[in-house]
Amino acid sequence: MLDRVKEIYQEIEQFEVQTKDQLELFRLRFVAKKGAVAELFEKLKTVPQEDRRAVGQELNSLKDFAQQRFTDYKALVEENSGGHAGPVPDLTLPVVPNQTGALHPLSIVRQQIITIFGRIGFSVSDGPEIETDWYNFGALNFPDNHPARDMQDTFFVQTNPDVLLRTHTSNVQVRLMERQKPPLRAIMPGRVYRNEAISARAHCLFHQVEGLYVDRNVGFRDLKDTLYHFVKEMFGKDTKIRFRPSFFPFTEPSAEIDISCLICKGAGCNVCKQTGWVEIAGSGMVDPNVLSNCGIDPKEFTGFAFGMGIERIAMLKYEIRDLRLFTENDVRFLRQFEGA
Ligand code: PHE
Repeated sequence: MLDRVKEIYQEIEQFEVQTKDQLELFRLRFVAKKGAVAELFEKLKTVPQEDRRAVGQELNSLKDFAQQRFTDYKALVEENSGGHAGPVPDLTLPVVPNQTGALHPLSIVRQQIITIFGRIGFSVSDGPEIETDWYNFGALNFPDNHPARDMQDTFFVQTNPDVLLRTHTSNVQVRLMERQKPPLRAIMPGRVYRNEAISARAHCLFHQVEGLYVDRNVGFRDLKDTLYHFVKEMFGKDTKIRFRPSFFPFTEPSAEIDISCLICKGAGCNVCKQTGWVEIAGSGMVDPNVLSNCGIDPKEFTGFAFGMGIERIAMLKYEIRDLRLFTENDVRFLRQFEGA
């Protein structure tokens, strides 16, 4: 009998309890009415009279021991699982990092542009994406038959051909000039729409940042200085810049701005089509007609404007080769910008 008691002590010692299920097994085995300890109490009758008292005492201690273990394990299991069943966590395992969200690369780049221009006194201005012909084209000196008004480029609202989705952020220049008197110094980031087939290089929805500076005696030199400053801040001081004569109905003279290709450092690659240069913006001196359309006297004031694609800047900065990645929201793409 006493050997059996010893065995049960050992069994209790070795019984592993970490989960609620194991705790229940422990209870059934040792503590329950039909458990091993109760069974021994049953057998107490068979012990000779003279030993019964001593054996009884042994059994009582065993019972207390089992009960105490059960209470301890129960507390442990409840504490570990926060009241739920489950394995006790292994505190030596490496911590699983928290999955934090990431800013979209376009948001990162837009914010950088805002910050760079903010430091040289440009505020941020906003305007509608659904526009009338006047704000998107008319006020900007587009002749009535200009090809950019063609259905191929512009999404028109079917029931009213005077209403369209803006094809550029230049509508905000017009609204700003109408609303405020010079000096004006603002950038205008926003979404724009064009009726283009979606490919690696073109999309029907993209983002631009327009810039406008109107004051007395603003010259082309100011435009150049401002954009030189921007390019060096954005892409690094070794980046080369060139101004190429161009045409926009709303600026005169006009120039397109190229920077030395960041990917091949000017040596020639498929991103810069082997030229060593990539275009990043259109710009020019605000056409006097546009100023007067917006109620600003072109004899008193002059200004410059520029517009660039945020996608283009982000593609160059992060070496992204396909425009479609920006809108597909593939987490493998987006995760690369965590902490950027
Ligand atoms: N709005 C022009 C475009 O979408 C860019 C631009 C803006 C050019 C301002 C000159 C001045 O292509």
